[in-house]
Amino acid sequence: MKYHIVTYGCQMNLHESEKIAGVLKESGYDASAPLEEADIIVFNTCCIRENAENHAFGNIGALKKLKRQKKHLLIAVGGCMVQEEGKAKLLKEKFPFIDILFGTHNLPELKSLIERKRQQKKAQISVPEERKETEDGIAPVRTSYPNAWVNVMYGCNNFCSYCIVPYVRGRERSRDASVILSEVKELVSAGYKEITLLGQNVDSYRGADGTDFPALLDAVASIEGNFRIRFMTSHPKDFSPELVAVMKKHEKICRHLHLPVQSGSNRILRLMNRRYTREKYLEELALLRREIPDCEVTTDLIVAFPTETEEEFEETLSLVREADFSSAFTFIFSPRSGTRAAQMEGRIPEEVAKDRITRLVALVNEKTREKSAKYVGKTMEILCEDYDEKKGLLLGRDGYGRMGYFEGGRERIGEFVRLKINRANGISLYGDPIDG
Ligand code: SAH
Ligand code: SF4
Ligand code: F3S
Repeated sequence: MKYHIVTYGCQMNLHESEKIAGVLKESGYDASAPLEEADIIVFNTCCIRENAENHAFGNIGALKKLKRQKKHLLIAVGGCMVQEEGKAKLLKEKFPFIDILFGTHNLPELKSLIERKRQQKKAQISVPEERKETEDGIAPVRTSYPNAWVNVMYGCNNFCSYCIVPYVRGRERSRDASVILSEVKELVSAGYKEITLLGQNVDSYRGADGTDFPALLDAVASIEGNFRIRFMTSHPKDFSPELVAVMKKHEKICRHLHLPVQSGSNRILRLMNRRYTREKYLEELALLRREIPDCEVTTDLIVAFPTETEEEFEETLSLVREADFSSAFTFIFSPRSGTRAAQMEGRIPEEVAKDRITRLVALVNEKTREKSAKYVGKTMEILCEDYDEKKGLLLGRDGYGRMGYFEGGRERIGEFVRLKINRANGISLYGDPIDG
């Protein structure tokens, strides 16, 4: 029997899908297959913005026909959207053919839900509100070699006023440092070359023995072996000189910090409940660059938050100019039911929001292009991660988070490769391997 998993959302969800695959293996589904050939299809959903939800709704709806043709096919829907208040019920009403609905807190239960569904006609629904344990005992089926994701913490306590994550992922829970360290050691000995430490807000990490995130990062980077480390996401309110010191101390830690700023306006930041100012954010970047001058910074930005004025939006533009990001993810504010911002007055009309995002994207792209152009003629060292079918080229990222493409065979995936860069296009750099 075969499975097919459709994943939406962040890295956390991508890794969770690897765990879902682990559970499916235990339930007798032994290989992944294209959608039409699968005996079970699992949707791992996201609800961060409305369009993420619409995507999932569309694709789940499209399965009705397949389900009718293939009687034994099971359809399971899990992840953040299912955890949203009232959504499980809505999904069941809209798509009565769904066999299993599970939330974000009950992955270990998925196996028994599948077993029960095989015995009973009735749909199996389990969406518990919270989960205290940080270990699930599931061996993930990793699909991202040479990268491996490792959770350091789950949940979020920050309640940024626009964000649904604290509601669907629950309160912060940190894994024990010793468990994280042994997982990383195992992955490194198994040949993984890049470890990405994951958490909604890694700076809030606090192990049961009192280990904080800089100490954890220090310990992970002290593990012997030829591998590099990334981590995400950091929060500017918790940014610490200790973190910078640890990054500086270890070459293994990538010279790249993803530090979402969201807005350049202090009034909007306050409404967002971000708990830092534009000035503090820029000071943090200055400290980081004083200590590690070549460190690259990327960010997330939201435009058209309720009541955002043209001047306040322009403050975001000017922050982008000042902060010198190497790239940024840009979003239009999307009201999420249950969050504080969804109840705020002063929604920004769609045309204005679209105009703002267009201007912001143009600026971000211009900055990225300017930065990329400077690398032409220089060298970069990438970890070869994948083969891009469309381009017919191998690709990978360097320690600064830049993408590099080159010609070669798939056997090079997992190798560190030095490239002489001869062309830049947006964030992508193209080059030829040197030293063979
Ligand atoms: N925990 C991470 C990631 C959160 S989700 C963090 O705190 O940075 C990733 C990004 O989605 C956020 O940084 C934010 O820019 C964006 N986002 C979250 N909720 C949103 C909403 N309601 N509308 C638009 N963008 C949103
Ligand atoms: Fe959402 Fe804010 Fe938590 Fe990030 S820190 S997950 S944006 S509430
Ligand atoms: Fe989406 Fe859930 Fe991640 S809402 S962004 S999949 S934590």
